[in-house]
Amino acid sequence: MSRVLLVIGGGVAAYKSLDLIRRLKERGIAVRCVLTNAAKQFVTPLAAASLSGEKVHDDLFSLTDEAEMGHIELSRWANLVVVAPATADLLAKAANGLANDLASTLLLATDKKTLFAPAMNLRMWLHPATRRNVATLTADGALFVGPNEGEMACGEFGPGRMSEPLEIVAAVEAALKSPTALPLPAATKPKGPLAGRRVVVTAGPTHEPIDPVRYIANRSSGKQGYALAAALAALGGEVTLVSGPTHLPDAHGVTMRRVETARQMLAAVEAAMPADVFVAAAAVADWRVASEGGEKIKKQGGRTPSFALVENPDILATIARRKKARPALVVGFAAETETVIEHARAKLARKGCDLIVANDVSPETGIMGGDRNTVHLVTPDGVEDWPDLDKTEVARRLAAAIAARLAGAGR
Ligand code: CTP
Repeated sequence: MSRVLLVIGGGVAAYKSLDLIRRLKERGIAVRCVLTNAAKQFVTPLAAASLSGEKVHDDLFSLTDEAEMGHIELSRWANLVVVAPATADLLAKAANGLANDLASTLLLATDKKTLFAPAMNLRMWLHPATRRNVATLTADGALFVGPNEGEMACGEFGPGRMSEPLEIVAAVEAALKSPTALPLPAATKPKGPLAGRRVVVTAGPTHEPIDPVRYIANRSSGKQGYALAAALAALGGEVTLVSGPTHLPDAHGVTMRRVETARQMLAAVEAAMPADVFVAAAAVADWRVASEGGEKIKKQGGRTPSFALVENPDILATIARRKKARPALVVGFAAETETVIEHARAKLARKGCDLIVANDVSPETGIMGGDRNTVHLVTPDGVEDWPDLDKTEVARRLAAAIAARLAGAGR
């Protein structure tokens, strides 16, 4: 599901932003709103909260918000930031990097693209200062929709009316089609043991369609793989995360590739090669139905349908057994419900990888979908047992172990 962070500025057009929330939600896009103080003169936080179904944020120094979801988290959550109405004041602040309230701080702190829908008096829009600010923002990679020409609230006629909600929706949908994460300037790229190393990670389940409405899936949440991708990026790696369908926001600092099926996942992984490290954390569906139905399968008067299954490609084994340009380090996961270590050892040999992170996923452990994990590192040389840890801590330690092994493998 796409996620839009909507900054509502203080202008008469703010009432149209309430409709915009509704239109975005109708299209399955989640919306969280930030209101400037001026916006609250035109629309109420309660209206924005009711329409978005989410808490509205308006205070940079809210202790509860900072404890639960700081302003950085708010921008990480989003795929795209939309400013509507984008007042002359908000454009000026954004263009010049001012950060003296929640809205402007977010615009400075976000690592996502921003789409501005300007709305102001035509003289303000045509003023050289606003022209300069728009040019600066465009050069910085910001997107614009509108303004339209027409009669304005101030009684004048010209450019300055905010685009209609459906025009903004179309611009949002177009923006969401291309990557919305802003590349970090080279000088600010994190340095670390994985600097300059390319890493590909798979995560989440895969969905294997039976017909247009049904699919085979599993209980993987993707949490461990996403946390690992972010931890590898934090060590300076250039990480591509190929994810099956999950409810998680994009992992921080990584290039996301979202896919549905095992075959799409393999294709996306192959496309991201060559890499120094490949980590297969996805719970890939082992089988798919031999012939996917083009139409919804209907009940057949008591006769139950039967499906022939075929095995999906093994992504981990395919990459580990590459003849050309095999990643220097190939890491697999082994989700087992019994004799965990033995099965993991067998998998290590069978799939030809260098390291297996084994865990017990029996229902009583609560690991599948949960926040904690107990893992064992299985290599041809032995087994390392780790204590029960939070998945982010497992990810941090695994990323460090991967970096150390890669360094050991020689540059
Ligand atoms: N894996 C993969 N492609 C598949 C199946 C599994 O890349 N089609 C990877 C997983 O990402 C994981 C490892 O292989 O890193 C082991 O996955 P697991 O489900 O534990 O093993 P299976 O291959 O399904 O073997 P088994 O059915 O014997 O448990």
